Amino acid sequence: MNNPQRPSILRTSMDDVQRIAMIHQGIPTELPNHPGLDLSLDHAPVRKQVLSLNEEKLAIENALRYFPEIHHNILGPEFLEELRTYGRIYMFRFRPDCVIRALPIDQYQANSLQAAGIMLMIDNNLDPLVAQFPNELITYGGNGAVFQNWAQYLLVMNYLSKMTEEQTLVIYSGHPLGLFPSDKNAPRVVVTNGMMIPNYSTVDHYERLNAMGVTQYGQMTAGSYMYIGPQGIVHGTTITLMNAARMKFGVPVNGDLGGLCFVTSGLGGMSGAQAKAAVIAGVSCIVAESNAIAARKRHSQGWVEQISEDVDEAIDLMLESAKNKVGTSIGYIGNIVELWERLVERDVMVHLGSDQTSLHNPYQGGYYPANLSFDESQVMMHTEPDKFALEVKSTLKRHVSAVNSMVEKGMFFWDYGNAFLLEAGRAEADIFDNDGNYKYPSYVEDIMGPLCFDRGFGPFRWVCSSGLAEDLRMTDKIAFETLTQLYQSTSDEDVKQQIRDNIKWIDEAESHNLVVGSQARILYADERGRNAIATRFNEAIADGRISGPVILGRDHHDVSGTDSPYRETANIRDGSKWTADMAVQNFVGDAIRGATWVSLHNGGGVGWGEVMNGGFGMVIDGSMDSKRRLQSMLHWDVNNGVARRAWARNAGAISSIKEAMEDNKSLNVTLPNSVNRDLLEDLFKGD
Ligand SMILES: NC(=O)c1ccc[n+]([C@@H]2O[C@H](COP(=O)([O-])OP(=O)(O)OC[C@H]3O[C@@H](n4cnc5c(N)ncnc54)[C@H](O)[C@@H]3O)[C@@H](O)[C@H]2O)c1
Repeated sequence: MNNPQRPSILRTSMDDVQRIAMIHQGIPTELPNHPGLDLSLDHAPVRKQVLSLNEEKLAIENALRYFPEIHHNILGPEFLEELRTYGRIYMFRFRPDCVIRALPIDQYQANSLQAAGIMLMIDNNLDPLVAQFPNELITYGGNGAVFQNWAQYLLVMNYLSKMTEEQTLVIYSGHPLGLFPSDKNAPRVVVTNGMMIPNYSTVDHYERLNAMGVTQYGQMTAGSYMYIGPQGIVHGTTITLMNAARMKFGVPVNGDLGGLCFVTSGLGGMSGAQAKAAVIAGVSCIVAESNAIAARKRHSQGWVEQISEDVDEAIDLMLESAKNKVGTSIGYIGNIVELWERLVERDVMVHLGSDQTSLHNPYQGGYYPANLSFDESQVMMHTEPDKFALEVKSTLKRHVSAVNSMVEKGMFFWDYGNAFLLEAGRAEADIFDNDGNYKYPSYVEDIMGPLCFDRGFGPFRWVCSSGLAEDLRMTDKIAFETLTQLYQSTSDEDVKQQIRDNIKWIDEAESHNLVVGSQARILYADERGRNAIATRFNEAIADGRISGPVILGRDHHDVSGTDSPYRETANIRDGSKWTADMAVQNFVGDAIRGATWVSLHNGGGVGWGEVMNGGFGMVIDGSMDSKRRLQSMLHWDVNNGVARRAWARNAGAISSIKEAMEDNKSLNVTLPNSVNRDLLEDLFKGD
């Protein structure tokens, strides 16, 4: 469980044993001492004041309902001060004054092993090594919340520690509604985040309701307790870079990317993965980051190799490494727009370009304008929000203009799932072509969608609940052997290429030191791969090769879990990309097939109201019951999306679902008939 990146001296008043005792007790009956803010950590930006006086009263009344009346005279003024200082009520007084981190599963006091697995994953999402703003319960993406306040953390952990396997904990946007009787086969926890009546799902409604304490933005794996640090996206980014280079610059399937330059932005929660992925893929890369603390954190963790505050120095380092054909990552502390503009001025050839600022949240700290310092932005976004929004928009225009110049020189640019195109369009930047379409693709449209999601390949992940590195090593070995066998028995060349990339990935994974927090791993696999790997993990737990339960899960950024027209479902072209049936069906289908917990979120990745996404977690313990549940649920969890993609006439998905029907005769999917193009055109000849 020891993590080399964890500082050895931490000034806290509580150790792990005391924290476990505290969460077992739930909200304390006596008021604890206020621990203050941990000033060694990064903190969420102050949110703008959005509530009227009456709404502020409601927010205080809502917050106080977690506590007996006897404490209201102290907590009332304290919460009002938090609301007016930070724009939200986090209930800092109830933050356990210790380092929250995932403990080995047997250290949690719980009646249910499944519930203990969920406690471990919640703690991991709040670990300061993992989370972006741990004191504000934000895991990543600027506003991806695990809970809205510390009372919810304590209550949820308390419920989990006492629940039985015949109860289900219901969580509404961080708030535990309670334990309800259910049965052994039901999920232990059902989470929903940000569910709204559709006509009220605007960003303004979110800001107000979040400030009132009745909804939250769960992002993807923040509010569903399945975040594993930037490793989760390292792999996806590596695959995206390799496939982009193969498609656009003729790099052979087994070739390396030495000599190519890649420029992007963001060294935050997920975006921090880009630097690591670039080095694994072998490109020379600069990642711009406005927030010096975030950049230095990634540097000290070894995720970015070099760091510079000088734009020309950063460019020179990139060019030197490209000349030597040795991949490197340089973190440039500064604004991405200044970097792009300097690259244009110096006429530098960049091959691959993208962006991972948090544009899903452009006006509340997700995107920093070029004319202001980082600190000035932090102030202006809540003191003069309208002026700040204008600064964001004018920076976005400059951003797109510089990118357009680079693309004219031959760069391939893609939207990396952060709402870049959407917000650039809203800012009236020069982002549309003559037909009114975006000039640039979303990376899912021509890379990830057809190559991966249509074929069922997506981000399968697991966590070794013992916390032991040897268990993770054993799971890597099992996954490697399973994929190697699948590769040998597969004839489809496209599928083989995906498996080949993942064999290489898992073979090298340990050497890349990807673990931050829990002992977790990710790879891309299709349904056959996920099912085979998980079944073998279960066997290895049973025979003792793995010393404890394994927690299975995935990113929501996957084949079936997410309906997002600018991202996961960007390559659905039958008009249904504006619907969300797939994500909702996935959540329900996983729940009835044996998931330990399921979640459904509004927003995530590209922003509130723009996407519906869901995920699951499953604790497997080596039993026959675990085998039954994992095989049933994983089959659905992938094939739901492959079937929908096939119905949308995506060729790869049609092949994959036909093979799935061959494998399992109980699967019987409705397939589309093709329509003769001439007949269709003839029908409209006169119009
Ligand atoms: N493609 C994917 O698979 C994928 C996966 C996860 C997240 N995302 C999306 O990517 C975005 C980033 O996610 P994250 O978790 O890293 O968020 P984050 O907020 O932790 O990190 C974004 C970083 O960008 C920096 N930044 C903002 N404006 C900048 C500017 N103008 N110049 C330089 N740096 C700037 C911020 O300081 C921040 O550190 C989000 O919109 C998220 O939804 C995409």
